[in-house]
Amino acid sequence: EKKLRLGIFGFGVVGQGLYDIIKTKRLNIEVKKFVIKHPEKKRSLPAELFHTDPNEILEDPEIDTVIELIDDAEVAYDIVSKALRNGKNVVSANKKMIANHLEELVAIQQEFGTSLLYEGAVCGSIPIIRNLEEYYDNELLHSVSGIFNGSSNYILSKIFNEDLSYEVALKQAQDLGFAETDPTLDVGGFDAKFKLSIVASHAYGLFIDPDKILNIGIDGLTEADIRFAKEKNLRVKLVPTARKINDHQVILYVMPKLVDSENILYQVENEYNGVLVQAAFADQQFFYGKGAGGHPTGSAVLSDIAALRYDYRYEYKKHLTKTPSDDEIYSVNWN
Ligand code: HSE
Repeated sequence: EKKLRLGIFGFGVVGQGLYDIIKTKRLNIEVKKFVIKHPEKKRSLPAELFHTDPNEILEDPEIDTVIELIDDAEVAYDIVSKALRNGKNVVSANKKMIANHLEELVAIQQEFGTSLLYEGAVCGSIPIIRNLEEYYDNELLHSVSGIFNGSSNYILSKIFNEDLSYEVALKQAQDLGFAETDPTLDVGGFDAKFKLSIVASHAYGLFIDPDKILNIGIDGLTEADIRFAKEKNLRVKLVPTARKINDHQVILYVMPKLVDSENILYQVENEYNGVLVQAAFADQQFFYGKGAGGHPTGSAVLSDIAALRYDYRYEYKKHLTKTPSDDEIYSVNWN
C-alpha cells in the first residue's frame, strides 16, 4: 500500500480535526509539515512541525500530498494551483476557492496529471461529491437540493426550538467553530451557493461562476417571518436548489423556504446538513449528516486522502445534451 507524505496548510478547526483523526487511525500516512500564518500561537504539537513559508511544503520533494485547509480563498488558490503544477495531489475543503476557480483547476490537473479532491468542502461529513460523481442515473437527475450550510441551520434551529435571538444563536455557531471567519458568508447564503455550484459540476458537468447564482440568505428574515412560520407550525430552512428543467437547462438558486413537518428537511436540525437527490428511476434519495465542525469535515478530508492512495480523480461527466447559455442556467424559477 502506497505511503503518503502530507504537507498541511492551516491548523484551524478542520486542520486540528483532521490531525486528531489521523492520530487515532493506523494509516500509512506521515504528516511531515504544517504551514501556518501565526507561528506565535501556542499549539499542542512540536514546534518543528510548523513553518510559515509555503515553499517548505510546495518545494519539498518528499511531500506527495498537499492538504489545503486555510481561510483565504485567493491565497488558497495560489497554493493549490502551485502544488498541482509541482506534481502533488491536493485535498482541499475550501468551497469558496473551488467554486471560484474550478474550471482552471481542472485544466491544471489535466495538464500535470495530478488530482484535486474536495469532499470536505461540501456538506461536511456527507459524501455527496463522490456519490454524484458515481451516480448511475445522472442523465435523469432532476434536482439536487437541501441544507448545505450548518451555521444557518444551527441559527434557525435555535430560533425555532429554543427561542434564542438571532445574534445569540450566531455567536454560538461561531463559538462552536461552525461559522466562517466572516459569518456573512453563512447567513447571506454565499457559502451555500459556493457548495451548490460545486454540486452542479458533479451532478451535471457544468462549471458555473457563483457570482451568477442568486443567493438570498437568512440575514434578511424578519421577526414577522419567524412568527408567521411558528404560528403555522412551519420551519424556515435555507435551501439551495439545482434543478434540470429540460435536457439542456438547469436553474440554480439559494433562498430561505418554509417547510412543513412532512418535508424531510424539517427534521434536519442544528449543524446537520441534508441533501435531497431526485432522479427519474431512483426517485428520491436523502443524504444526512453533520455539515460543519472539525471532526465531521476532517473525516471527509481523510476519505479523500485515502482515495488518493488508489489515484482517484473526478471526471466531471457532461450530462446535458448541450452546454446551456448564461441565460439558460441562471434564470430563477420562483415556484
Ligand atoms: N460555515 C460552514 C457551515 C462550514 O456553516 O456550513 C462548513 O462548510
